[in-house]
Amino acid sequence: MEDKKTSAKVFDRIANRYEVIAKFLSFGILPLWFKRLLEGVEEGERVLDLACGSGILFGELSKRFNAVVGLDYSLPMLLVAKEKNVSNAYLVRGDALKLPFKDETFDTAVVSLGLRHFGDTESSLREIFRVLKKGGTLHILEVGIPRNPILEKLFLLFLKGVILPIGKLLSREEVFDHLFGSIVKFPHREKLTRLLKEIGFERADYESVTFGIAYIYRAKK
Ligand SMILES: C[S@@+](CC[C@H](N)C(=O)[O-])C[C@H]1O[C@@H](n2cnc3c(N)ncnc32)[C@H](O)[C@@H]1O
Repeated sequence: MEDKKTSAKVFDRIANRYEVIAKFLSFGILPLWFKRLLEGVEEGERVLDLACGSGILFGELSKRFNAVVGLDYSLPMLLVAKEKNVSNAYLVRGDALKLPFKDETFDTAVVSLGLRHFGDTESSLREIFRVLKKGGTLHILEVGIPRNPILEKLFLLFLKGVILPIGKLLSREEVFDHLFGSIVKFPHREKLTRLLKEIGFERADYESVTFGIAYIYRAKK
């Protein structure tokens, strides 16, 4: 997990280039991950797109929900999201650790590539649990580490030797070290599903995406 201030500063500075950088660093694989994430998201009244960033998911979510509430800490990211002009998407500036919503407000919550930046995974999950209706679902996409030890070594080498230098070049940010450190420290796979159940989710599962360099977690309150 990483320090909240550092994470916020990074996204403030790269907001206008975020989508290009993300596409580049993921070698174009991101749309596939988003597609897999959204495949399991059923229709409903209200969805929380937590750490919505530039609003990449708004288009799809707006077709399935009457209201899409996109919350992010970074104002520059929200300004980019606003330009998407999605009529039923509402933008809120706020902190994932202290959600400005009443208990049981949302049918669904989606966190795409955001959870590992929140600084305190458990507190943010508790907040999500609080604002979800009973029976509501949570869908998380997060970068992971392959379970296979050889793939794990190769992936970490690739992160340090290729992705990190390209990221620094594109973003001109030294703090990219910090962002990738958060991948290593994150509670992946069973650690996260265990935590979700401890918090009170009735069901929590995960699936591996692209050989385990990403995971999708789904939980039901
Ligand atoms: C990697 S981006 C993901 C954006 C988007 N969900 C996507 O999939 O492209 C991470 C986002 O998390 C936001 N963020 C980081 N810490 C946060 C916090 N404590 N509360 C709310 N948003 C936060 C950042 O501002 C950034 O927009």
